[in-house]
Amino acid sequence: MSIQNQFELESMKAVGAIVRIALDTMEARVTPGITTWDLNEIGADVLEAHGARSAPQLLYGFPAEVCISVNEEIVHGIPSDRVIQAGDLVKLDIVAEKNGFMADAAITVVVGPADDERYALVDCAKRAFYKAMSVVRAGNRVNHIGRAVEREVTRSGYSVVEDLSGHGVGRAIHEEPTVPNVYSLLHRKKLSQGLVIAVEPMIAMGSGAVYEAEDGWTICTQDHSLTAHFEHTVMVTKGQPVLLTA
Ligand code: CO
Repeated sequence: MSIQNQFELESMKAVGAIVRIALDTMEARVTPGITTWDLNEIGADVLEAHGARSAPQLLYGFPAEVCISVNEEIVHGIPSDRVIQAGDLVKLDIVAEKNGFMADAAITVVVGPADDERYALVDCAKRAFYKAMSVVRAGNRVNHIGRAVEREVTRSGYSVVEDLSGHGVGRAIHEEPTVPNVYSLLHRKKLSQGLVIAVEPMIAMGSGAVYEAEDGWTICTQDHSLTAHFEHTVMVTKGQPVLLTA
């Protein structure tokens, strides 16, 4: 969507804040021994307590409230009786809906104790996001984002998962424009004031090639290398972008 007035801005900030509270609450509970289903229930309770709903469940029939993906799983993992262990990289991804407005954010939690290389991968996804923020500005082009992310990820020795992209968001989960994490000549549309996009570097320690698991949802790396994801919903302005899920 493109935010046109104060009501829309406040509505997006409100649903963005709920996403943040849910992610923070879940993050605090990611410890060895908990199951991904338990984590889902914690997130679901936060959404319900704030009068929000899970947008992927509502719109796509996703079989839980929160997408939880572990290690080689990048996105759209289904919560289950899987038990979290030390060293796991746990990706928590929430799209909440309230009053018809939607916000999308994700974090990757390193379950300690873990190797330095795991923390380094997760740090890179976050760093790539903030590199992208330096070019998210009205008048710049969508592919400036992909260029910034790709540069940071490849110079750090990792791969971008090219088959997955950021996207417009607000009145639906996936809106125009598609926001690739690599430079592409095909994505030259200009960013405009008020435009709301989910910027979300998804990166792999090995190759970024992926496959869809037999559950029909989970996307994994073909080489089973570890992955990290970092995402906020942001509003484009003539200056610094507004992080609606911060
Ligand atoms: Co997203």
